[in-house]
Amino acid sequence: MAETAADIVNKDLDYICGNLKQEFGTMAGKRLLIVGGAGFLGYYLVQSILHYNKTAVKPIRLTVYDNYIRGVPAWLSSLNGTANLELIKFDISMPLPADIPDFQFIVHAGSIASPIYYKKYPIETMDANVGGLRSLLEYAKARKDKPGKVEGFLFYSSSEIYGDPTPDMIPTPETYRGNVSCTGPRACYDESKRYGETLCVNFVQQHGIPIKVARPFNNYGPGLKITDTRVLPDFARDVLNGRDIVMKSDGSPKRTFCYVADAVTGYYKVLVRGVPGEAYNVGVETPEISMLELAEKVAALGRELVGYKGKVVKKMDAEYLIDNPERRCPIIKKAREQLDFNPSILVDEGLRRSLIWYTGNREGSEA
Ligand SMILES: NC(=O)c1ccc[n+]([C@@H]2O[C@H](COP(=O)([O-])OP(=O)(O)OC[C@H]3O[C@@H](n4cnc5c(N)ncnc54)[C@H](O)[C@@H]3O)[C@@H](O)[C@H]2O)c1
Repeated sequence: MAETAADIVNKDLDYICGNLKQEFGTMAGKRLLIVGGAGFLGYYLVQSILHYNKTAVKPIRLTVYDNYIRGVPAWLSSLNGTANLELIKFDISMPLPADIPDFQFIVHAGSIASPIYYKKYPIETMDANVGGLRSLLEYAKARKDKPGKVEGFLFYSSSEIYGDPTPDMIPTPETYRGNVSCTGPRACYDESKRYGETLCVNFVQQHGIPIKVARPFNNYGPGLKITDTRVLPDFARDVLNGRDIVMKSDGSPKRTFCYVADAVTGYYKVLVRGVPGEAYNVGVETPEISMLELAEKVAALGRELVGYKGKVVKKMDAEYLIDNPERRCPIIKKAREQLDFNPSILVDEGLRRSLIWYTGNREGSEA
């Protein structure tokens, strides 16, 4: 029988939990807060914890805060009532709830990641990455010397903090300082992530809190809703609607794409095992694929899986392309050596799993 979207998700959750025995073991019996858990990365960040809990002697007690600025996803609503899971509608740029419990692990992923949407909500994006981060750090600081203190804090930065690297800095190591506009259309995102990292480093130095930073490089896969407007869901939407695949560029920009099951494995490794005050690139080093190659791969998969008959066309979007880097490719030696991060799902397999997932998840709210 052909694989279904549910099969893919189960396989991925087994893979994530299999790779995180040590890390989830450290978190067992403790409380974890995920801010922004309703988003793309939240899909596996949340579900992998619940998957682990199914067989755990001591479950991880998970709370999700999200302001649902881009809607309430059906997958999350359907988890309502699951043991050891609490879902709370909360905007992280507001003061924290007075009755907030003691969390030993905190993940701050509450910030819109899709360029079209963060450009629509630039101030909210900055507030989440700066003010929201600050209140979580103050929370951790206030509990520093108390029982049940924070043992691991993960701030989601971005590969966008590197801006458009000079050619000699591609592939890009964590030590690269960036080539970023502070006033361009993407600056609300890039600069608030940069400021967020500075805040983290200084809270580590001044207050000794175990804060770690992840810099994701182009994650894709299940959970990235079809209406997100990032490149893969756009291409998948074209395929599933039987129309031509539309590229917003001339097809030349290149990226390395990291399948979300590998990426989420990496994020939990950063949270639990990362060195405080350090930032880690989380992505894959090869292959670098142009948008044209990606479109052709998705078209070929579409032909194989759903009898797709369309072609790839260009419809340049000049506004979208402002400050859009030509190449984005990480060096992940640091995460490999310090955290045993070994992404292994090759891009052809990841794209196949993604397209199967999209065939079972064709609907997505437009928000
Ligand atoms: N996915 C990637 O490839 C990628 C790349 C670089 C950085 N990141 C970072 O990783 C994190 C998660 O990314 P994602 O792809 O899941 O993003 P996403 O946009 O899919 O999800 C973000 C979630 O955060 C929530 N949110 C936004 N503002 C909030 C606020 N003020 N309070 C509470 N919740 C809020 C949104 O409702 C959404 O559910 C973000 O910080 C993002 O910047 C992701």
